[in-house]
Amino acid sequence: MTQVAHGEPRFAFGKNWAHFLSMVDDQRIAVAERSLREMLETADLAGRSFLDVGCGSGLFSLAARRLGARVHAFDDDPEAVACAQELRRRYGGGDAWTVERGSILDQAYVASLGQFDVVYAWGVLHHTGAVWRALDNAAAVVAPGGRLFIAIYNDQGALSVAWRAIKRTYNVLPEALRLPFALLVALPLEAKALAAALLTLRPWRYVQSWLRYGTNRGMSRWHDLVDWIGGYPFEVAKPEAVLDFCRARGFTLAKLKTCGGKLGCNEFVFVKTAPA
Ligand SMILES: C[S@@+](CC[C@H](N)C(=O)[O-])C[C@H]1O[C@@H](n2cnc3c(N)ncnc32)[C@H](O)[C@@H]1O
Repeated sequence: MTQVAHGEPRFAFGKNWAHFLSMVDDQRIAVAERSLREMLETADLAGRSFLDVGCGSGLFSLAARRLGARVHAFDDDPEAVACAQELRRRYGGGDAWTVERGSILDQAYVASLGQFDVVYAWGVLHHTGAVWRALDNAAAVVAPGGRLFIAIYNDQGALSVAWRAIKRTYNVLPEALRLPFALLVALPLEAKALAAALLTLRPWRYVQSWLRYGTNRGMSRWHDLVDWIGGYPFEVAKPEAVLDFCRARGFTLAKLKTCGGKLGCNEFVFVKTAPA
């Protein structure tokens, strides 16, 4: 069911994560670990503290834990919290992995957690309804020399405005109509991808885009598609705006992976190099 906060609908992320949970296996965990190692440019996270903001399924908490970090994970959605707790139970997280309900917009709560060597907020801040406040709160708990790893939807101008309307519509529709609506929205995108594969005489490329999707952060294409069409609140940011915001708070950009101006998230890893 869609929750409503301050008159605005909210996508039930946790429900989508609950469906994804059965797909979590060693291969996906290994891919998630690799994504952390690559972006954080480290072989492991031994002895480091890791804050998983908006942990969703808990897959990246598990990956960070496997890399040796002490993990604290939280999410605003109780069903997402239950997912992360289930992964912790399944894979034996021990005392070095805590999971609870909390909001990145709750400044007092976030500040009470202390400081972390890595603050990870992948695809979260733009779904809070207050992206800059959320980023401010996340940045505030990065320890000196620590890293802030975030992914925020790319600002595509009018296209982003149209997507916002689509996502809002999905969430205000009666539940029975959401899946047909999602398929209707997805169809032209899928048709475009299939046509491109056929025109370049590589039809298998389209099939691979589904079959090999797990190589992308260990996620599932179907669940990401539902998350993409339904994910609301929805805000976007230009990479330069994120860069300026973080630089003003004492951060230096260490790594950047853009979505090439297209639909999707830009990923940033910042290092806290100076006091804000
Ligand atoms: C697209 S999912 C990303 C999950 C995870 N970080 C990942 O990379 O797979 C966004 C998550 O942010 C959570 N979220 C939304 N608003 C939040 C808030 N104010 N505080 C904490 N989590 C929030 C949602 O419940 C959802 O699980």
